[in-house]
Amino acid sequence: MTRPSLVYSGIQPTAVMTIGNYFGAVKNWARLQYERECVYCVVDLHALTSPDAGGDLKHASREMFVSLLAAGIDPDRTTVYIQSTVPEQTELCWLLATLTSLGDLSRMTQFKEKSVLLRGGDSDDDGTFVSAGLLFYPVLQAADILAYRAGCVPVGQDQAQHLELSRGIARRFNSRFGFVFPEPETLLTQVPKVMSTADPTRKMSKSLGPRHYIGLFEEEASVRKKIRSAVTDSGVTPSGEVSPGIENLLTLLAACGEEDDARQMRADYFAGTLRYVDLKGRTADALVALTSEMRDRRADVLRREPDLDGRIMEMAARARAMAGETLGLAREKMGIFPPGRRTRGAK
Ligand code: AMP
Ligand code: TRP
Repeated sequence: MTRPSLVYSGIQPTAVMTIGNYFGAVKNWARLQYERECVYCVVDLHALTSPDAGGDLKHASREMFVSLLAAGIDPDRTTVYIQSTVPEQTELCWLLATLTSLGDLSRMTQFKEKSVLLRGGDSDDDGTFVSAGLLFYPVLQAADILAYRAGCVPVGQDQAQHLELSRGIARRFNSRFGFVFPEPETLLTQVPKVMSTADPTRKMSKSLGPRHYIGLFEEEASVRKKIRSAVTDSGVTPSGEVSPGIENLLTLLAACGEEDDARQMRADYFAGTLRYVDLKGRTADALVALTSEMRDRRADVLRREPDLDGRIMEMAARARAMAGETLGLAREKMGIFPPGRRTRGAK
């Protein structure tokens, strides 16, 4: 069965989910569950390509799993699982790698950026380790999506190139071996890009350090402190646009559901009557209400799910059934043997 309307997306496991992740992606994922069948993945195998991964990855994946449930992903409605629990995907990754051009992979912007960053420069021979995993990252991403024969992938603009590659791989497979994979469409999420409150010219991200992000479950005092010290400006910019710091606070206020207040405050800004202390106060109140509700929901999830690892394994079984069906078909079309049976106690 192909699932042209199935929605699929993934998120890297980090112990903290930021309000950037939430407003930029996860809130939208939760909404989509009521329109289509959805599958969401915590991509721990992708996270292994980061040099500082390891050790606590299981903890980070579990935390992200709980955060997704707290943020509204309903495990009774949606398959939400951890990538490493579905080995079928990793196997499909190999099959698809044989249909992927090395040239295409080495031209991926994310690969180029990350490998240059690792090397700390352009040189290739300074002894820095750039793993083949980093190069293979988009093939595994294609395998994630194609294993579920998903039709629609909600991601941010930065993933559009990887999605184009996934479509190319699906096309090549289908024309060489017969149709198995629908070409997944990119659903560019029309959701706000949240900027760092400490530096509103940069995207809110954990990698910039704790000053630069607000966690979805963060305590009131520290949320208020971060908003109070948010960088604003000293008046309307020469271009007549709203300055990045104010724009970001207005975005956050609107994203919290206070669109009317945000609209009014934007008008006040242009009229020169907006008091930044009021904007900060309203935004902090709205964020404190959100984060405190999210903390309650997180506590609820932990109460509701006393056997978290059991739930993770239940989700894995569901995902493996879906991915296994596709993998069987792909193996057959490619003309290779089915997997051998494992016998107990074999030497
Ligand atoms: P990452 O944490 O990079 O794996 O991102 C997970 C999802 O959150 C992706 O779909 C990103 O596009 C989204 N995201 C992360 N940070 C932000 C941000 N500051 N603003 C909007 N969306 C974001
Ligand atoms: N590469 C994506 C990111 O960095 C995460 C991801 C992995 C993903 N597999 C995916 C997203 C499949 C969508 C579909 O955000």
